[in-house]
Amino acid sequence: MQMNNVICEKDGKTAIVTINRPQALNALNRETLEEILSCFIALEQDTEVCAVIVTGAGEKAFIAGADIAYMQDFDVLSARKFGRLGHQVLQAIESFPCPVIAAVNGFALGGGCELALACDIRLASENAKFGQPEVNLGVIPGFGGTQRLPRLVGTGHANELLFTGDIIDADEACRIGLVNRVVALDQLLQESLKITAKIAAKGPLAVKLCKEAAQAGMEMDLARACQYEADLFGVCFASEDQKEGMKAFLEKRQAKFTGN
Ligand code: CAA
Repeated sequence: MQMNNVICEKDGKTAIVTINRPQALNALNRETLEEILSCFIALEQDTEVCAVIVTGAGEKAFIAGADIAYMQDFDVLSARKFGRLGHQVLQAIESFPCPVIAAVNGFALGGGCELALACDIRLASENAKFGQPEVNLGVIPGFGGTQRLPRLVGTGHANELLFTGDIIDADEACRIGLVNRVVALDQLLQESLKITAKIAAKGPLAVKLCKEAAQAGMEMDLARACQYEADLFGVCFASEDQKEGMKAFLEKRQAKFTGN
């Protein structure tokens, strides 16, 4: 697939999606959003892929937000259309069947922070910076920031970031639970790959069902969510991986999972 703003590569069973507009700090215009979407649609067909890492090109930015130059002359309808495209892309990431890790290697602002929020796990480099500075521009977050940020870090921390537009560093992002951990910039990809290698060694169906149960359950009350978990737990027992995983444990050997 020929793309101008996104690089999609594979490292074993991990796909690495790099947003590649360093001249604009990887800001998201329509073309870039469409390319990210195409990339995730194509990856979903790749049965070898067990996890995805999303990162930004260069050493300065993950994604510095939606592209302000592109948005400045929007009218109501074009802004709504762009917002809907952003939501479509972030939903494709969020509902991607395998885990998606954001390797945040610099500024993750506005739409960039929102894209990271749609991922399952966030690692940050020491130079990473996070924020929802849309109020500085006279707008609100348009790609889910007002929704996913409070769900992840709680309303108090989210409200402060949303109302003030403050930009926080990686340590503060880690303290409030916005990122899992902070690593040196030159270790970020390796640390992300270590996580995806661990995931790739597990039962692929089980990992996918964990993601589905955890994500869908957040939208249900606890009793329904636990019932849903029981349903998916049952589904595991239709798989060869369950038979192999339990047999291997009892035979004191490493399981050989096939994803079936
Ligand atoms: N859109 C378009 N271009 C951007 C951009 C963005 N979000 N962020 C940075 N750039 C461009 C700059 O215009 C600049 O381009 P030129 O070299 O052509 O002038 C280039 O990237 C480098 O940026 P700076 O010179 O500004 O770099 P800096 O180190 O001085 O500052 C920064 C870095 C603090 C990230 C600053 O660029 C900045 O504040 N960027 C905007 C961040 C922002 O407001 N993001 C939210 C966007 S709105 C949004 O995302 C809405 C939504 O929810 C969907």
